[in-house]
Amino acid sequence: MRGRTPYHCLLFAFLCYVVGGGAISEFRICAFSMNKFDTQKTFHYKVLHTLTRIVSRCDIAFLQQVVDSDGSLIKSLVASLNRYSGREAQRYEGYHYNSVSSANLGKPNDLQKYVFIYRTETAHVTAQQQYQKQNQFLRAPLAVYFHSNRTTIKNFVLVGLHTDPSSTVQEINRLYDVFEEVLKKWNNKNVMFLGNFHASCAYMTRRDKKQIRLFTNTSFHWLIKDKMDTTITDETNCAYDRIVVHGKSFLKAIEPFSAGVFDFPREYKLSKTKAQEVSSHLPVEVRLKSSALLLQAKHLLVLLALCCLFL
Ligand SMILES: *[C@@H]1O[C@H](CO)[C@@H](O)[C@H](O)[C@H]1NC(C)=O
Ligand SMILES: *[C@@H]1O[C@H](CO)[C@@H](O)[C@H](O)[C@H]1NC(C)=O
Repeated sequence: MRGRTPYHCLLFAFLCYVVGGGAISEFRICAFSMNKFDTQKTFHYKVLHTLTRIVSRCDIAFLQQVVDSDGSLIKSLVASLNRYSGREAQRYEGYHYNSVSSANLGKPNDLQKYVFIYRTETAHVTAQQQYQKQNQFLRAPLAVYFHSNRTTIKNFVLVGLHTDPSSTVQEINRLYDVFEEVLKKWNNKNVMFLGNFHASCAYMTRRDKKQIRLFTNTSFHWLIKDKMDTTITDETNCAYDRIVVHGKSFLKAIEPFSAGVFDFPREYKLSKTKAQEVSSHLPVEVRLKSSALLLQAKHLLVLLALCCLFL
């Protein structure tokens, strides 16, 4: 073993780490406001294809404004995801997708659903709960209790909401009541709120924040900041879509600086007009730290120890 120095050993271990780490997928949670996703859109092949690509990047995706009274629309999206992932499997890991939907919510002439689509290999639905006080929201939030053994935080609750633009401030404020109910029901404080809260521009001003418990209480962390633009159009520059987590342990489980928008028009080279056939919003997303990476770090230590033995 002459000629080998601790420097070589470190380099070797580092290479192993990088090569091994490259194969590890990160855990991504997304929220996408769809501007009324209905059958007209699924029949438009290109829209369905773009949506499939967007959702296939996420371990869990929360979709809003889904107009799908009999559930057939989401069925075809999930089928499209499974086909797409099957094709991609030749290059990457192939995943299977499943979904959890709310009932049809809102006014009788404008019923919409909340839908969570998730990878069955990385996320497991433990339970779900529709918030019952329907008079507090135009479309009351849907809470889903997830389990994942791929993340450092194993059990967490996602609460999805698309606010009524005319009572945005009140509805965001009431998310605190939803938090308390979820906490009581599942005894888990790892709660993430996500969706189009219309939490910007004319719907929620800086002054309004003083009346919103998710702002006044410092246990809640707003990961999508006020300065972000979650819209596609040039005329608007507003952080409507948000991701908020409760508590230090959830915050610690988040990959630092991973919260942001997914600029799919740019990524997929779509004109703004074409992109707006899918939505006028950009998806927002955040990544959770991977438990596999922790495992990887342990392997790195073992490798280092072994390799130093031989020096
Ligand atoms: C990890 O989660 C997946 C999907 O929920 C499950 O199939 C698998 O058995 C789990 N593995 C362990 C070690 O718990
Ligand atoms: C903030 O929320 C937490 C829940 O984590 C609660 O225990 C605490 O009492 C709240 N603080 C205030 C000032 O309301």
